[in-house]
Amino acid sequence: MYEGKFYRLLHPRPTVIIVSRCPDGRLNLMPASWNTPVSEEPPTVAVAVDKETYTYQCLKSHRYATLNVPPIEAADLIYKLGSVSGREVDKAAHFGVRLEPSEKVDVPRVAGALAAYEVEVYKEVEVGEVALFVFKVLGIWVAPGVADQWGFDFKKVNIPLHGAGRAFYRVDPRPVFAKK
Ligand SMILES: Cc1cc2nc3c(=O)[nH]c(=O)nc-3n(C[C@H](O)[C@H](O)[C@H](O)COP(=O)(O)O)c2cc1C
Repeated sequence: MYEGKFYRLLHPRPTVIIVSRCPDGRLNLMPASWNTPVSEEPPTVAVAVDKETYTYQCLKSHRYATLNVPPIEAADLIYKLGSVSGREVDKAAHFGVRLEPSEKVDVPRVAGALAAYEVEVYKEVEVGEVALFVFKVLGIWVAPGVADQWGFDFKKVNIPLHGAGRAFYRVDPRPVFAKK
């Protein structure tokens, strides 16, 4: 029925942009929607990274990265970043993505992102064609005024939930509260 695309029923999913530092010292950007928080103590976030991506090679050579939460307005850019490899293109220069220094890691965050996790590779699990990188969160940056302790204020901002292909969804800002 799904021609092997079994995971489609677990989409749409929040998308992050991984910024990594590559073997030649250059920075690379890759969107990833197969991401999830893992543990609270230590604080960790995992991302499934295909071993054929350049990002995989970059994360193998340099263990620090940033995971950036872009706004929904970046959907075009996200799709473009996921359509070419950093092996061929300096994506930040090519797509005009501005980067800003991080506080805890020597890899910058994406300017204009709503939030960024500054992370270090903590564990790596090989699963088929993918490496599941479990990152320890070393620092968190949040754009002023867009989030509180409950997360983003979706009346003010929205995030790209990746459906399939070029389709992205927004979060409906009206919560459905479960009964007590
Ligand atoms: C919205 C979106 C989400 C993606 N999610 C993932 C993902 O979670 N894991 C993955 O390995 N590739 C994912 N990809 C594909 C990579 O981003 C793509 O292969 C990219 O070109 C790799 O770049 P690199 O070779 O410069 O690392 C996604 C692509 C898009 C557009």
